[in-house]
Amino acid sequence: MSDAPTALPRVLSGIQPTADSFHFGNYLGATRQWVALQEEFEPFFFIADLHALTMEHDPKKLADRTRVAAAQLIAMGIDPERSAVFAQSHVPEHAELAWVMSSLTGFGEARRMTQFKDKTAKGGEGAASVALFNYPILQAADILLYRPQYVPVGEDQRQHLELTRDLAQRFNHRFKKTFRLPEAYILKETAKITDLQQPDKKMSKSASSPGGIIELLEDPKVSAKKIRSAVTDSETEVRFDEEAKPGVSNLLTIYSALTGRSIDDLEKAYAGRGYGDFKGDLADVVVEFVTPFRARTLELLDDRAELDAVLKSGAGRAREVASRTLADVYERVGFLPAQG
Ligand code: AMP
Ligand code: TRP
Repeated sequence: MSDAPTALPRVLSGIQPTADSFHFGNYLGATRQWVALQEEFEPFFFIADLHALTMEHDPKKLADRTRVAAAQLIAMGIDPERSAVFAQSHVPEHAELAWVMSSLTGFGEARRMTQFKDKTAKGGEGAASVALFNYPILQAADILLYRPQYVPVGEDQRQHLELTRDLAQRFNHRFKKTFRLPEAYILKETAKITDLQQPDKKMSKSASSPGGIIELLEDPKVSAKKIRSAVTDSETEVRFDEEAKPGVSNLLTIYSALTGRSIDDLEKAYAGRGYGDFKGDLADVVVEFVTPFRARTLELLDDRAELDAVLKSGAGRAREVASRTLADVYERVGFLPAQG
């Protein structure tokens, strides 16, 4: 490997700009860990705009959603001085390495990806794009270019991380040791935030109804209302039990994550008090969290030139690393070196 031995291990992750706002699943499942990890690692965080093309998208919204995503990352504590924050499409090495990795991926192997199955369940495979099929291969390239130790994501990305490791191993074995095997960094407690209306399903921007999903940038009063109308169960006891009480357990998870109070402590505090008090207090906690976050994001969005400059500098830093890895890969697969 060409990295200096004294360099900090790297952390890398990405998020798609496919909505006008991140939601609580994104934040608690993934991006909050990005903020925490940036201190002890050399961090690379990107907006996966190439991935946004895998489902039908609105070209008029994509650029703005990319900026809004960057603004939210900064507002939640990603420090662009420390972390390279960039748009995937600004670093062409991602698409270039994806092509090479696709040559190492079996068709059957790609077809086994559950996200592809889920996303094509409704419309059928025939209506899906080849890009959707290739999605996990591009994700593997995103990761391997930076040779990170950790990739902080939610539970739904575990299988993609396994594929990434398999492909890295295959490349290392077939050619020469080039890639570090990355580890998924998944926090058990918040790995799957569920839909407030259908607590047996994950909170998801594509599948959740408006009442089931809390968007970080929506009006905090609306978020509070959604918490108060979250589906619970016919008991009255605030107790963590994912099987029997998925709705209450999800609310406890969110409460605990936002306040740092343990689930145990919360169960004790609400013993004998019923769901009304519990939900009302959590609604307040949520409002207290999202109000300053939203204000900070909107403030950052007022200076688009500054955001674009952050993304430009992030892409420059990313390319330094990505281009070195890609050069190694091109050499090892046997391409004729380009002259000049
Ligand atoms: P996406 O919006 O699909 O690009 O997801 C961005 C990140 O959020 C990924 O790391 C996902 O695993 C994570 N994520 C999305 N939904 C959830 C959820 N309901 N619970 C936990 N993590 C999630
Ligand atoms: N597939 C991820 C998601 O939907 C987004 C993503 C793209 C990603 N490339 C990545 C995450 C690389 C981690 C590493 O959430």
